[in-house]
Amino acid sequence: MRDFRSRFGFHTTPFTREIAVRERYRNEIFDEVLAALVGVLEERMSAVLIAPSGVGKTTLLRALVEDHLPEVRYRVHYTKVTGLSKRDMCRELALAAGVAPAGTFPSLVRNLQERFLTLSDTDGLRPVLVLDDAHELRPEVMGILRVLTNFEMDSRLVLSILLVGQTPLRELLRRTALADVSGRLAHYAVLRPLSRSETGSYVEHRSTISGATVVPFDPKALEAIYEIGRGNLRATDHLALKSLEVAHREDADVVDHNHVVSARKVLWP
Ligand SMILES: Nc1ncnc2c1ncn2[C@@H]1O[C@H](COP(=O)(O)OP(=O)(O)OP(=O)(O)O)[C@@H](O)[C@H]1O
Ligand SMILES: [Mg+2]
Repeated sequence: MRDFRSRFGFHTTPFTREIAVRERYRNEIFDEVLAALVGVLEERMSAVLIAPSGVGKTTLLRALVEDHLPEVRYRVHYTKVTGLSKRDMCRELALAAGVAPAGTFPSLVRNLQERFLTLSDTDGLRPVLVLDDAHELRPEVMGILRVLTNFEMDSRLVLSILLVGQTPLRELLRRTALADVSGRLAHYAVLRPLSRSETGSYVEHRSTISGATVVPFDPKALEAIYEIGRGNLRATDHLALKSLEVAHREDADVVDHNHVVSARKVLWP
């Protein structure tokens, strides 16, 4: 039996996890959030990006870094928060600000302060620390970010921090102990799942970039993908790919509603 890819005219596997920045799907919200974040970093301020899992935060961050933060102007340090201890966080802060990663917190603070004193606007480099999956930050580690409050001049900061995480990040920031940290954040960005029509365009887009000349999903299949995946990009990817496999196994050239329903049963029994 031939491969499902050749049946539907794909030259690569569609709906995979990795997606090149230039091939990503864009809509109004993605563009707005991107522009807002660029604006905040341009001003050397910090920001938060919150959205449920699978809605496109990490992908958007990659677009931000690759397309909008040129190396001649920004020094970006990206880290996933999972399991970050206080000591790790000090190291990440130091790396991001371009100071020696001191062993202890007080010496890090000293190093950052020195850096602050010597850093001039003419040097032009804007350090940015991106903390992805920040909802997993332990409160005491988050508290370290308070160090930033000491480095303000002309109400701008030396180091911009981008906190990116799932919905519980909002609660984490709300805790009074972190009021100093929240107060540093100039912008709260939120991503939402795709709408019904966007989900259709998304599936079409991801089919096309993988080589399909005819979108191999009929309208009812697209409806079902939206009803089940609710515009979550990761869920949509899994469902679309599995539906293609199911349709192929049944020797169908177009994915219909039943194929999507069968795919759901396999994926989420
Ligand atoms: N703009 C986009 N264009 C095309 N595909 C995308 C886009 N955004 C996300 N995806 C797809 O959806 C998947 C999930 O997106 P991503 O990893 O960015 O979500 P996330 O919000 O960071 O999720 P988590 O909170 O679980 O880390 C990606 O692996 C990618 O395949
Ligand atoms: Mg992510």
